[in-house]
This record gives sequence, structure tokens and C-alpha cells, in this order.
Amino acid sequence: MIEEILNIENIDIYFVIGIILFFGILESISGFLKNSNRKKGDWIQEIMSFFVLGNLVKPLIVFLIFKAGDLYFPEYRSSLGSYSFIILFLSYILIDDLLQYWYHRTAHETPFLWKLHRPHHQAEEMGYFVSYRNALLYYLLMPNIWWVALVLFLGGAKAVALGLILKQFVIIGSHSRLKWDKPFYEYAVLHPIIKVIERIIITPAFHHSHHGTSRLDSASEPNGNFGNMFSLWDQLFGTATFQNSYPKEYGLQQKTNDPWTASYFYPFVKSPDPKSEWNSGFKKTDTLSLEALSVSLTKGENYLWCACGMSTKQPFCDGSHHGSKFKPQKFTAKRTGEVKLCNCKKSNQTPFCDDTHLTL
Ligand code: FES
Repeated sequence: MIEEILNIENIDIYFVIGIILFFGILESISGFLKNSNRKKGDWIQEIMSFFVLGNLVKPLIVFLIFKAGDLYFPEYRSSLGSYSFIILFLSYILIDDLLQYWYHRTAHETPFLWKLHRPHHQAEEMGYFVSYRNALLYYLLMPNIWWVALVLFLGGAKAVALGLILKQFVIIGSHSRLKWDKPFYEYAVLHPIIKVIERIIITPAFHHSHHGTSRLDSASEPNGNFGNMFSLWDQLFGTATFQNSYPKEYGLQQKTNDPWTASYFYPFVKSPDPKSEWNSGFKKTDTLSLEALSVSLTKGENYLWCACGMSTKQPFCDGSHHGSKFKPQKFTAKRTGEVKLCNCKKSNQTPFCDDTHLTL
């Protein structure tokens, strides 16, 4: 039955458009679009990115893979066509999602890829179209788009079509402001169900947490929850944080004034804002110093101690760690008063100074 449906030409495209319309209409009815603070540049980038991805980037990569395949490996074209559909589908979708998990995680941990992924996290509100907000080059380098093209060449078109439909449903759903999982956290009787669901697929609470601005908000984990369709990889590689609420604030800690052209076409177009990572003269500041910093803390307050040494608000985090493997350390002050916080980042009792700097 599923295979027969998948035989219909372009069925995956109809489904994806249907999914977008479904979330788009529901978000509009719920009043989210009317109350949106999105600027014109946000809309231009998101809509253009969606159309360029589907009509230019993907067809181009498919074309290149088919050209190269026909030239160098013609005997492999459609060679998987006789394999069991379920085996093909599972192999395709699991490899696809694993590739995307590592690409996404690497984009958070390396400076250049981070700049290509930064547009996605610049969005200060969630919504179905945020899923498509990345620099053009981010998509061109995305390994799982190349993987899709390869599976198509090998004859797995139906597996790709089904995978695309299910994946878009999960991804757009997890970016949407609709938060379909909210009732599962509100009613105790539904808790066991969501516990199972969130350990399989990415839910809005799980992914919204990744878009949260700061770890100071306990519902936010911008340095984790990298999965796209399945939460399996986050659980396996130690980056999963399950949430039952949603961040209070979305977007980056450091606000910059960037035109959408810099955000979408970086590194070919640069931002005029000198504070922006897309500005040609931008450099991350090394703010490490041996001396500890004395700060005044308030008992019971939460703080984020900078672990990377690049914050301009030492000893606290200002979000400069994005694009590195560092993440800030959250701690709660146990008393009110002056405390010496480590600024050599070598203390054995971080965030507090233990005089390790005297030995350096
Ligand atoms: S700026 Fe966040 S850990 Fe250094």
C-alpha cells in the first residue's frame, strides 16, 4: 500500500508542501503570525532559502551525483532496486539522520561551519519556516543531501520519498510554535507516552531547548540536542537533555545588525556590523588572564561562567563560545558577597579560583 502511494510521481513534494501548509495554517489560525516580530529580512531569507533548497541546491546535487555515477560507476545505477523496501528505507533514513546529526553538531563546534549555521540560531522566535534558515553554502555542503542523491542513483527513490515525508513532518513539527507535545507534559496521565515518544523522535520541547538563548534558563540547552529526526544519536553520544517546558527566550546572546544577504550568502557577502561574526574584520577576543576576577554574587542566583576564555564579559559567558567545543558552566551562588572566579580557565574547582594560575 505504502509502496503504491510512493509510486505516484512527485508524491513526496506534495506531502512536504502539505506539511508546510498544515503547520502554516495552524500557526496562522493560532495568531502566531499576526503577533510575529519577524522582520522583512527574516521572511525573505526563510522563504528564499526554502525555494532555493528545493529547486536549486537539491536538483544540482542530484544532477552532479548522476553525472559522476553514470560516468564512473554506470553498473551501479538502480542496483538496489530489487532489495527489500523496508531494509532500504531503514538503511537510508538511519544513515541520513546520523550524517545530519554529526554535520549539525560539527556546525556548532567549528568556527567556519558555525557561521554558515548561525542564521538558524539568529531567529528570535520559532516557527515552521525556521527549519530552512541557513546560509546557502551550509546546504551545499550538507552531507545528507549528497547521500539522498546517491541513494536515488542506486535506485532507492521510494525509500527517499517516504523518508523525506516523515522527516519533514518531524523537523517542521519540532520547529513550529504549535508545540504539539505540550499537552503530554501538562497531563500526568500522558507523561509515560511522551517519555517513549521523545526517546524516539525529536519533539518541540527537545528542539526548542536547542534554540534557547542561554543555559541560565533551565529549559534551554543551546549546546546540545543536535538531532533532527531521531533523538537516538543525542542519547548515544551524550548530548541529549530532555525537557518538559520551553525556553523563555530564543536566539543568540549577542545581538547584531546583519542584513539578510550576509546571513544567507556568507562568506561571499559580509556584514557591515563590526560586532558580527560575518563582518570581515571580526575576530574573537582572547580574554584569558592569569589573575582571578573578584565579582559580587547574590545567594540563590544562577550564573554562567565562561569556560572558553573568549567572552568579553569575563568571567561570565556572553555567547562567544559558539563555534567551539566549549560550553559555559552554570552555577548557583551559595552566599551573597565577593567571590574570586577563575579566569585562567585551569582551576580544578571551576568556576572558582583555586590558585592554579600561580603555578602557570
Ligand atoms: S563565552 Fe560562553 S563559555 Fe566562554
